[in-house]
Amino acid sequence: MAYASFREFLDSLDQAGELIKVSEPLATELEITALADLEMKQPGGGRALLIEKPTVNGVESQFPLAINTLGSFKRMALSFQAESIQAVAEELGSLMKAKPPTGAREAIKLLGTALELRHAKPKMVRSGACQEVVHRFDEGSEEVPIASECPSLLDIPILKCWPEDGGRFITLPCVVTKDPDTGERNVGMYRIQIYDSQTTGMHWQLQKVGARHGKRYYENGTRMPVSIFVGGDPAYPFCATAPLPDGLDEFLLAGYLRKKSVELVKCLTNDLEVPANADFVIEGYVDPTEPLRQEGPFGDHTGYYTLKEPYPVFHVTAITHRKKAVYPATIVGIPPMEDFYIGAASVQLFLPIFQMNFPEIVDIALPAEGVFHNLVFVSIKKTYPMQAYKIMHGLWGMGQMMFTKYFVIVDEDVDVHDTSQVLFRLCANTDPKRDSIVTKGPADVLDHATDAIGMGSKMGFDATRKLPGEGFQRPWPPIIKMDPVVTEKIEKIWSELSR
Ligand SMILES: Cc1cc2nc3c(=O)[nH]c(=O)nc-3n(C[C@H](O)[C@H](O)[C@H](O)COP(=O)(O)O)c2cc1C
Repeated sequence: MAYASFREFLDSLDQAGELIKVSEPLATELEITALADLEMKQPGGGRALLIEKPTVNGVESQFPLAINTLGSFKRMALSFQAESIQAVAEELGSLMKAKPPTGAREAIKLLGTALELRHAKPKMVRSGACQEVVHRFDEGSEEVPIASECPSLLDIPILKCWPEDGGRFITLPCVVTKDPDTGERNVGMYRIQIYDSQTTGMHWQLQKVGARHGKRYYENGTRMPVSIFVGGDPAYPFCATAPLPDGLDEFLLAGYLRKKSVELVKCLTNDLEVPANADFVIEGYVDPTEPLRQEGPFGDHTGYYTLKEPYPVFHVTAITHRKKAVYPATIVGIPPMEDFYIGAASVQLFLPIFQMNFPEIVDIALPAEGVFHNLVFVSIKKTYPMQAYKIMHGLWGMGQMMFTKYFVIVDEDVDVHDTSQVLFRLCANTDPKRDSIVTKGPADVLDHATDAIGMGSKMGFDATRKLPGEGFQRPWPPIIKMDPVVTEKIEKIWSELSR
């Protein structure tokens, strides 16, 4: 059964021994994130934290806060109500294998059709728990409450994460937008900086779908409806971060993962839809005639602060929430952090799609130190010359893999999730000049090392065994391995010795 609410997910984490309840009041300004940082750095990601009494400027909030709820492989699997992420990935892969696509475009189309066939299509309902309590701020609304009774963004326990941050940020927001031309919906996770009780930043980066939708509204000069929601089924934030192709509805994937259609309600002050079981919804708009505003600084995934940059301003027209809402949050910073597990689950889930396009790919890993796309390891079954280069170029051309700074391609017998194994092959199997390539492409806008925002160079290493057809004329030596029969016998003796 799908989670009916975020609280239900927290209960299941509690039952699994994955939740620490903190009853001591903790400040939303740095204290909660300092605690979460310690917990996230524990081996395997530590446990989730439920902060029962978060304080905002010294005053206890009416809403508890949960953090690090997706920050381990076990909790990611629990969020899908699955045995393991592997099991979910295998099921998704077998759905696609029913009729193998002939190319990338068809693979994407097939994924959409496959998800729809699984009754994953979202459905509209008339009312939802996310609108149990309504605060409207839109002009002319009769329901506008008097200011003092009106909970605003400043009453939600939104975190200031790091000392140099430009303010408080919603760190797990699911941002809903629509393409004004096609009506296609998108849900992306773009951090939200709180400017005041009714205005925020809108940090959709240059290459993201929200920004593409925004560009169309800026071009035609009309007000852009945007809704932000947090909480509800834990599949939602995962889907908002997943690198789905533009045009594929994140609620379709969420419905597939939770094995139940996502129920959507109409927003009260714009024409967007949000999940009925979300905890908080912030409705509003971006006005394309308004100048961009400086957003940041923000202690980011990169382990450094991203400096101030101009981004659109979001105006709140309504805040709705559950009566017993819990505010979900995360913190990003020097890895490993909670987002490492979210990203790793994404890669595992989408591996079958990469394999559809490149059947020789055995596995892909984004090590925590590479902060998503800085460093990507790929193992392949190599059968012909220069195949490693085909893989790097192919992946640089696939969605958000375009951000990859360094690729290391290794042979199929390497476990790419073991960084030490990959580095060993990189050092042992490469002649630096012959086995590397430098090229150019779009860069992650968060990358502070590039000369200009959003563009940079990329490097690929071919750490596979070299073939004669690649111009390598010497014999390739065998890797050292012990005789398996001897190993079996000696391992028994060794285990007794070490007792
Ligand atoms: C915790 C977290 C915070 C994120 N914050 C941002 C952000 O502020 N801006 C952004 O463009 N992407 C951010 N991302 C990455 C996007 O959510 C991700 O690229 C997603 O696939 C974008 O969706 P889209 O392709 O539908 O635009 C964040 C990811 C995570 C896990």
